[in-house]
Amino acid sequence: MSCIIPDEQVFEYKEQGTIVVKNLLSGDLLERAKRSSTALEEKIPVPTFESLAMDAWKQREDPFLEIATRSPLVAAARQLIPESREEGLFVLKDAFFKSVGANQGCGWHVDDKFFWPAAPNTSGINIWVALDNVTSDGGGLAVAPGSHTSEFLGARDAIANGDTCALAQISPEWNARLEAMRETPTLQPGDAIIHTRYMFHRSDPFRDGSDAQRGPGVARYSVRYVPGSTRLDGGFGRVDGEITKLTGTIRDANTNGFHGLFLEVPLSTP
Ligand SMILES: [Fe+2]
Repeated sequence: MSCIIPDEQVFEYKEQGTIVVKNLLSGDLLERAKRSSTALEEKIPVPTFESLAMDAWKQREDPFLEIATRSPLVAAARQLIPESREEGLFVLKDAFFKSVGANQGCGWHVDDKFFWPAAPNTSGINIWVALDNVTSDGGGLAVAPGSHTSEFLGARDAIANGDTCALAQISPEWNARLEAMRETPTLQPGDAIIHTRYMFHRSDPFRDGSDAQRGPGVARYSVRYVPGSTRLDGGFGRVDGEITKLTGTIRDANTNGFHGLFLEVPLSTP
């Protein structure tokens, strides 16, 4: 198996639940992602973000299908999800976002049942790739290393009833605790923040009055990977145009009637 992440970073990931991997995506694939993201931006404007596209791999295959299933992201996911060697590796969800202007994005959270449509206490990783520069003026992702442990179950519960982005209003105490642990990496295009499923993270809005706030914004593409035994119960997906409750394991999704929702990463890929 190829080891794209050095041992010391694998150790750091196990301890802290998150790492930054420089230059994970590069060259032609990165350039194509930057160009293609412009087309996605025009599609789905939502209030929380300037633009949002889930299932970019399906909506606009080139190059997102390739990034999700045939790029260094796959090698990183296989390395950090060892059970995927036996069970297979699946793309649970991807997302394209662009942060622009005074948009505040989403507060401290773990992904909810729509962004992470799987049963509670299942594992997996999110690989968040910057497609533009993230400077100290903001526009990127903040993480709270160590917040993936059971110590933070109370914070997860606080936002479990649908108020995914509102921890600051719901529980200022938990919010302050996470804020004190915050790390906000500066990144170049192609750099990735990798974090485990229950890592608390939030959008990092642009600093008010900064050049970056007036600029074209920061695009990012994120892919959530899980092993084949992951149960989907409790998650939701769009089946034949209807939001549907999911059941069974992700590797049985097609036979259970949830066609085309998830992607299995072919074993032959790097
Ligand atoms: Fe999230």
